[in-house]
Amino acid sequence: MIDLSVEVGGLRLSNPVMPASGTFADGLANTIDFNRLGAFVTKTITHEKRTGNPVPRVAEVHSGMLNAIGIPSKGSDYFIRESIPFYRKFSPPLVVSISAPSNDGFARLAAELSQVEGVAAIEANISCPNIEEDGKAFAMHARSTAAVVKALRASTSLPLWVKLTPNTGEIANVARAAQEEGADAIVAANTILGMAIDIDTRRPKLGNVMGGMSGPAIKPIVVRMVYQCHRAVSIPIIGCGGIATAEDAIEYMLAGAKAVQVGTATFIHPTAMIDVIDGLVQYCGRKGLSGLQGLVGAVEDTGFVPFEAMA
Ligand SMILES: Cc1cc2nc3c(=O)[nH]c(=O)nc-3n(C[C@H](O)[C@H](O)[C@H](O)COP(=O)(O)O)c2cc1C
Repeated sequence: MIDLSVEVGGLRLSNPVMPASGTFADGLANTIDFNRLGAFVTKTITHEKRTGNPVPRVAEVHSGMLNAIGIPSKGSDYFIRESIPFYRKFSPPLVVSISAPSNDGFARLAAELSQVEGVAAIEANISCPNIEEDGKAFAMHARSTAAVVKALRASTSLPLWVKLTPNTGEIANVARAAQEEGADAIVAANTILGMAIDIDTRRPKLGNVMGGMSGPAIKPIVVRMVYQCHRAVSIPIIGCGGIATAEDAIEYMLAGAKAVQVGTATFIHPTAMIDVIDGLVQYCGRKGLSGLQGLVGAVEDTGFVPFEAMA
Protein backbone atom coordinates (compact mmCIF):
# COMPACT_ATOMS: atom_id res chain seq x y z
CA MET A 1 0.00 0.00 0.00
CA ILE A 2 1.58 3.30 -1.11
CA ASP A 3 0.57 6.44 0.77
CA LEU A 4 1.76 9.73 -0.76
CA SER A 5 0.16 11.92 1.91
CA VAL A 6 2.29 14.61 3.55
CA GLU A 7 1.94 17.19 6.29
CA VAL A 8 3.11 20.51 4.89
CA GLY A 9 3.12 23.78 6.75
CA GLY A 10 0.01 23.13 8.80
CA LEU A 11 -1.92 21.24 6.10
CA ARG A 12 -2.39 17.53 5.53
CA LEU A 13 -2.20 16.89 1.78
CA SER A 14 -3.24 13.65 0.06
CA ASN A 15 -0.09 13.94 -2.04
CA PRO A 16 2.74 16.49 -2.34
CA VAL A 17 1.92 17.82 -5.83
CA MET A 18 0.21 21.17 -6.45
CA PRO A 19 0.19 23.92 -9.07
CA ALA A 20 2.63 26.82 -8.92
CA SER A 21 0.85 30.14 -8.50
CA GLY A 22 -0.22 31.74 -11.78
CA THR A 23 0.22 28.69 -13.95
CA PHE A 24 -3.19 27.08 -13.97
CA ALA A 25 -6.75 28.25 -14.37
CA ASP A 26 -10.24 27.00 -13.60
CA GLY A 27 -10.61 25.70 -17.17
CA LEU A 28 -7.97 23.04 -16.51
CA ALA A 29 -10.72 21.19 -14.62
CA ASN A 30 -11.98 20.10 -18.06
CA THR A 31 -8.71 18.24 -18.66
CA ILE A 32 -7.58 16.88 -15.29
CA ASP A 33 -9.35 15.68 -12.16
CA PHE A 34 -8.78 18.53 -9.69
CA ASN A 35 -9.62 16.23 -6.78
CA ARG A 36 -6.38 14.36 -7.39
CA LEU A 37 -4.19 17.39 -6.61
CA GLY A 38 -2.47 17.73 -3.25
CA ALA A 39 -3.66 21.35 -2.99
CA PHE A 40 -4.70 24.34 -5.06
CA VAL A 41 -2.48 27.39 -5.13
CA THR A 42 -4.19 30.38 -6.71
CA LYS A 43 -2.78 33.05 -8.97
CA THR A 44 -1.46 35.82 -6.71
CA ILE A 45 -4.21 38.22 -5.73
CA THR A 46 -3.97 41.78 -4.46
CA HIS A 47 -6.44 43.85 -2.47
CA GLU A 48 -6.74 46.48 -5.20
CA LYS A 49 -7.58 45.96 -8.85
CA ARG A 50 -4.44 45.91 -10.99
CA THR A 51 -4.11 45.95 -14.75
CA GLY A 52 -0.77 44.14 -15.03
CA ASN A 53 2.16 44.79 -17.38
CA PRO A 54 2.19 45.91 -21.03
CA VAL A 55 2.14 43.15 -23.67
CA PRO A 56 3.88 40.99 -24.77
CA ARG A 57 3.82 39.38 -21.36
CA VAL A 58 5.49 36.07 -22.20
CA ALA A 59 8.35 34.95 -24.42
CA GLU A 60 9.57 31.45 -25.15
CA VAL A 61 13.30 30.84 -24.63
CA HIS A 62 15.48 27.72 -24.71
CA SER A 63 14.32 25.23 -22.08
CA GLY A 64 11.91 27.64 -20.48
CA MET A 65 9.98 30.85 -20.75
CA LEU A 66 10.10 34.45 -19.60
CA ASN A 67 7.04 36.14 -18.18
CA ALA A 68 6.25 39.61 -16.96
CA ILE A 69 2.55 39.34 -16.30
CA GLY A 70 2.65 41.93 -13.53
CA ILE A 71 0.01 40.40 -11.24
CA PRO A 72 -3.18 41.66 -12.90
CA SER A 73 -5.91 41.31 -10.30
CA LYS A 74 -9.64 41.93 -10.13
CA GLY A 75 -9.16 42.67 -6.44
CA SER A 76 -9.79 40.59 -3.34
CA ASP A 77 -13.56 41.33 -3.20
CA TYR A 78 -14.03 39.81 -6.64
CA PHE A 79 -11.80 36.84 -5.76
CA ILE A 80 -13.72 36.12 -2.56
CA ARG A 81 -17.10 36.45 -4.29
CA GLU A 82 -16.39 34.69 -7.60
CA SER A 83 -13.38 32.36 -7.29
CA ILE A 84 -13.55 30.83 -3.82
CA PRO A 85 -17.00 29.23 -4.41
CA PHE A 86 -15.52 27.50 -7.48
CA TYR A 87 -12.69 25.92 -5.47
CA ARG A 88 -15.03 24.91 -2.65
CA LYS A 89 -16.52 22.31 -5.03
CA PHE A 90 -13.29 20.29 -4.86
CA SER A 91 -11.60 18.42 -2.02
CA PRO A 92 -7.95 19.70 -2.11
CA PRO A 93 -7.22 22.53 0.34
CA LEU A 94 -7.13 26.03 -1.13
CA VAL A 95 -3.91 27.99 -0.67
CA VAL A 96 -4.39 31.64 -1.62
CA SER A 97 -1.34 33.44 -2.96
CA ILE A 98 -1.24 37.10 -1.98
CA SER A 99 0.85 40.15 -2.71
CA ALA A 100 0.98 43.74 -1.50
CA PRO A 101 3.41 46.65 -1.79
CA SER A 102 3.94 47.05 1.98
CA ASN A 103 4.08 45.06 5.22
CA ASP A 104 0.74 46.53 6.29
CA GLY A 105 -0.83 45.76 2.94
CA PHE A 106 0.21 42.11 3.25
CA ALA A 107 -1.12 41.95 6.80
CA ARG A 108 -4.49 43.51 5.88
CA LEU A 109 -5.03 41.15 2.95
CA ALA A 110 -4.08 38.08 5.00
CA ALA A 111 -6.48 39.18 7.75
CA GLU A 112 -9.27 39.72 5.21
CA LEU A 113 -8.80 36.24 3.70
CA SER A 114 -8.60 34.60 7.13
CA GLN A 115 -12.29 35.43 7.63
CA VAL A 116 -13.32 33.61 4.46
CA GLU A 117 -14.60 30.05 4.64
CA GLY A 118 -12.69 27.74 2.34
CA VAL A 119 -9.27 29.42 2.59
CA ALA A 120 -6.94 26.78 4.05
CA ALA A 121 -3.62 28.63 3.94
CA ILE A 122 -1.92 31.80 2.76
CA GLU A 123 1.05 31.76 0.40
CA ALA A 124 2.75 35.15 0.67
CA ASN A 125 4.42 35.96 -2.63
CA ILE A 126 7.15 38.17 -1.18
CA SER A 127 9.05 38.24 -4.46
CA CYS A 128 7.13 41.40 -5.35
CA PRO A 129 8.39 45.01 -4.95
CA ASN A 130 8.32 46.60 -1.50
CA ILE A 131 7.55 50.33 -1.74
CA GLU A 132 9.16 50.83 1.66
CA GLU A 133 12.48 49.51 0.28
CA ASP A 134 12.75 51.42 -3.02
CA GLY A 135 10.83 48.72 -4.85
CA LYS A 136 13.27 45.91 -4.03
CA ALA A 137 11.51 42.59 -3.52
CA PHE A 138 10.80 41.82 0.15
CA ALA A 139 12.55 38.44 -0.17
CA MET A 140 15.83 39.89 -1.44
CA HIS A 141 17.07 40.39 2.11
CA ALA A 142 16.63 38.74 5.50
CA ARG A 143 15.67 42.01 7.22
CA SER A 144 12.81 42.89 4.88
CA THR A 145 11.69 39.24 4.87
CA ALA A 146 11.59 39.22 8.67
CA ALA A 147 9.53 42.44 8.77
CA VAL A 148 6.86 41.28 6.33
CA VAL A 149 6.59 37.77 7.79
CA LYS A 150 6.25 39.25 11.28
CA ALA A 151 3.40 41.49 10.07
CA LEU A 152 1.72 38.55 8.31
CA ARG A 153 2.09 36.24 11.31
CA ALA A 154 0.41 38.78 13.56
CA SER A 155 -2.50 39.10 11.13
CA THR A 156 -3.53 35.48 10.57
CA SER A 157 -3.67 32.16 12.35
CA LEU A 158 -4.00 30.31 9.05
CA PRO A 159 -0.99 28.26 7.94
CA LEU A 160 1.45 30.75 6.42
CA TRP A 161 3.62 29.74 3.47
CA VAL A 162 6.24 32.22 2.30
CA LYS A 163 7.40 32.14 -1.31
CA LEU A 164 11.01 33.23 -1.79
CA THR A 165 12.83 34.74 -4.74
CA PRO A 166 15.81 32.98 -6.32
CA ASN A 167 17.19 36.43 -7.21
CA THR A 168 18.67 36.88 -3.74
CA GLY A 169 22.27 36.03 -2.99
CA GLU A 170 21.37 34.98 0.55
CA ILE A 171 18.62 32.42 0.23
CA ALA A 172 19.52 30.55 3.44
CA ASN A 173 19.46 33.73 5.54
CA VAL A 174 16.15 34.75 4.00
CA ALA A 175 14.67 31.31 4.72
CA ARG A 176 15.92 31.50 8.32
CA ALA A 177 14.33 34.93 8.75
CA ALA A 178 10.99 33.59 7.49
CA GLN A 179 11.15 30.66 9.91
CA GLU A 180 12.14 32.83 12.87
CA GLU A 181 9.16 35.14 12.32
CA GLY A 182 6.69 32.28 12.23
CA ALA A 183 6.33 31.00 8.64
CA ASP A 184 4.92 27.46 8.57
CA ALA A 185 6.61 26.58 5.27
CA ILE A 186 8.70 28.17 2.57
CA VAL A 187 8.23 27.85 -1.15
CA ALA A 188 11.49 27.90 -3.11
CA ALA A 189 11.18 29.58 -5.45
CA ASN A 190 9.70 32.16 -7.78
CA THR A 191 11.16 33.00 -11.22
CA ILE A 192 14.71 34.18 -11.97
CA LEU A 193 15.09 37.65 -13.46
CA GLY A 194 15.95 37.49 -17.15
CA MET A 195 15.68 39.25 -20.50
CA ALA A 196 15.41 38.37 -24.18
CA ILE A 197 15.88 40.61 -27.25
CA ASP A 198 14.44 40.22 -30.75
CA ILE A 199 17.51 40.60 -32.98
CA ASP A 200 15.48 41.77 -35.99
CA THR A 201 13.51 44.53 -34.29
CA ARG A 202 16.18 45.09 -31.57
CA ARG A 203 13.33 45.36 -29.12
CA PRO A 204 13.09 43.53 -25.81
CA LYS A 205 10.77 40.55 -26.26
CA LEU A 206 8.75 41.54 -23.18
CA GLY A 207 6.72 44.70 -22.86
CA ASN A 208 8.18 45.05 -19.36
CA VAL A 209 11.73 44.62 -20.80
CA MET A 210 12.76 42.18 -18.05
CA GLY A 211 10.82 39.24 -16.71
CA GLY A 212 10.93 36.01 -14.75
CA MET A 213 12.55 32.89 -16.18
CA SER A 214 10.87 29.55 -15.45
CA GLY A 215 10.88 26.02 -16.80
CA PRO A 216 13.44 23.19 -17.04
CA ALA A 217 16.47 25.51 -17.36
CA ILE A 218 16.07 26.85 -13.81
CA LYS A 219 15.76 23.46 -12.09
CA PRO A 220 19.42 22.97 -11.08
CA ILE A 221 19.54 26.51 -9.67
CA VAL A 222 16.47 26.01 -7.51
CA VAL A 223 17.40 22.45 -6.47
CA ARG A 224 20.60 24.02 -5.11
CA MET A 225 18.55 26.61 -3.22
CA VAL A 226 16.26 23.97 -1.74
CA TYR A 227 19.37 22.10 -0.58
CA GLN A 228 20.72 25.29 1.05
CA CYS A 229 17.36 26.05 2.68
CA HIS A 230 17.04 22.49 3.99
CA ARG A 231 20.32 22.91 5.81
CA ALA A 232 19.18 26.24 7.23
CA VAL A 233 15.58 25.66 8.42
CA SER A 234 13.44 22.92 9.96
CA ILE A 235 10.06 24.07 8.55
CA PRO A 236 8.88 22.23 5.42
CA ILE A 237 10.16 23.40 2.04
CA ILE A 238 8.02 23.28 -1.08
CA GLY A 239 10.21 23.00 -4.17
CA CYS A 240 9.24 24.86 -7.33
CA GLY A 241 11.20 25.43 -10.50
CA GLY A 242 11.32 23.41 -13.69
CA ILE A 243 9.46 20.37 -12.38
CA ALA A 244 7.90 18.43 -15.25
CA THR A 245 8.20 14.78 -14.20
CA ALA A 246 8.15 12.59 -11.10
CA GLU A 247 11.92 12.26 -11.44
CA ASP A 248 12.26 16.05 -11.15
CA ALA A 249 10.03 16.01 -8.06
CA ILE A 250 12.09 13.25 -6.45
CA GLU A 251 15.30 15.19 -7.09
CA TYR A 252 13.76 18.14 -5.24
CA MET A 253 12.71 15.85 -2.38
CA LEU A 254 16.22 14.43 -2.06
CA ALA A 255 17.50 18.03 -1.85
CA GLY A 256 15.05 18.71 0.99
CA ALA A 257 11.60 19.50 -0.41
CA LYS A 258 8.60 17.93 1.30
CA ALA A 259 6.21 18.92 -1.49
CA VAL A 260 6.46 20.37 -4.98
CA GLN A 261 4.74 22.84 -7.26
CA VAL A 262 4.45 22.38 -11.01
CA GLY A 263 4.30 25.53 -13.13
CA THR A 264 5.50 25.97 -16.71
CA ALA A 265 5.23 22.22 -17.42
CA THR A 266 1.43 22.51 -17.28
CA PHE A 267 1.52 24.89 -20.28
CA ILE A 268 3.29 22.21 -22.31
CA HIS A 269 1.49 19.14 -20.92
CA PRO A 270 -1.81 20.05 -19.24
CA THR A 271 -1.73 16.67 -17.45
CA ALA A 272 1.77 17.27 -16.02
CA MET A 273 0.67 17.44 -12.36
CA ILE A 274 -1.28 14.18 -12.62
CA ASP A 275 1.63 12.55 -14.47
CA VAL A 276 3.95 13.59 -11.61
CA ILE A 277 1.57 12.07 -9.02
CA ASP A 278 1.26 8.80 -10.99
CA GLY A 279 5.03 8.74 -11.49
CA LEU A 280 5.63 9.11 -7.74
CA VAL A 281 3.42 6.09 -7.07
CA GLN A 282 5.31 4.10 -9.70
CA TYR A 283 8.67 5.18 -8.24
CA CYS A 284 7.60 4.06 -4.75
CA GLY A 285 6.44 0.75 -6.21
CA ARG A 286 9.74 0.19 -8.04
CA LYS A 287 11.80 1.08 -4.93
CA GLY A 288 9.62 -0.84 -2.48
CA LEU A 289 8.71 2.36 -0.58
CA SER A 290 5.41 2.80 1.26
CA GLY A 291 5.64 6.61 1.03
CA LEU A 292 7.86 9.57 0.32
CA GLN A 293 8.94 10.66 3.81
CA GLY A 294 12.26 8.86 3.71
CA LEU A 295 13.27 10.80 0.59
CA VAL A 296 13.13 14.29 2.07
CA GLY A 297 16.69 15.62 2.34
CA ALA A 298 18.08 12.14 1.71
CA VAL A 299 20.71 13.24 -0.79
CA GLU A 300 23.88 11.40 0.16
CA ASP A 301 26.18 13.36 2.44
CA THR A 302 29.47 13.14 0.61
CA GLY A 303 31.25 14.94 3.42
CA PHE A 304 32.17 17.74 1.04
CA VAL A 305 30.76 21.13 2.07
CA PRO A 306 31.03 23.74 -0.67
CA PHE A 307 31.33 27.16 0.92
CA GLU A 308 28.29 28.36 -1.01
CA ALA A 309 26.20 25.82 0.90
CA MET A 310 26.95 27.69 4.11
CA ALA A 311 25.53 31.03 2.90
C1 LIG B 1 2.89 32.79 -16.64
C2 LIG B 1 3.35 32.73 -15.22
C3 LIG B 1 2.67 33.41 -14.22
C4 LIG B 1 3.09 33.37 -12.90
N1 LIG B 1 2.40 34.03 -11.94
C5 LIG B 1 2.79 33.95 -10.63
C6 LIG B 1 2.04 34.56 -9.61
O1 LIG B 1 0.99 35.18 -9.82
N2 LIG B 1 2.49 34.45 -8.33
C7 LIG B 1 3.64 33.75 -8.00
O2 LIG B 1 3.99 33.64 -6.82
N3 LIG B 1 4.36 33.12 -8.98
C8 LIG B 1 3.96 33.21 -10.26
N4 LIG B 1 4.67 32.58 -11.23
C9 LIG B 1 5.87 31.81 -10.85
C10 LIG B 1 5.53 30.32 -10.68
O3 LIG B 1 4.56 30.14 -9.67
C11 LIG B 1 6.79 29.50 -10.35
O4 LIG B 1 7.33 29.97 -9.13
C12 LIG B 1 7.88 29.61 -11.42
O5 LIG B 1 7.28 29.64 -12.70
C13 LIG B 1 8.87 28.46 -11.35
O6 LIG B 1 8.24 27.22 -11.55
P1 LIG B 1 8.20 26.48 -12.99
O7 LIG B 1 9.59 26.47 -13.54
O8 LIG B 1 7.65 25.12 -12.68
O9 LIG B 1 7.27 27.29 -13.84
C14 LIG B 1 4.25 32.61 -12.56
C15 LIG B 1 4.95 31.93 -13.57
C16 LIG B 1 4.51 31.97 -14.88
C17 LIG B 1 5.29 31.19 -15.92
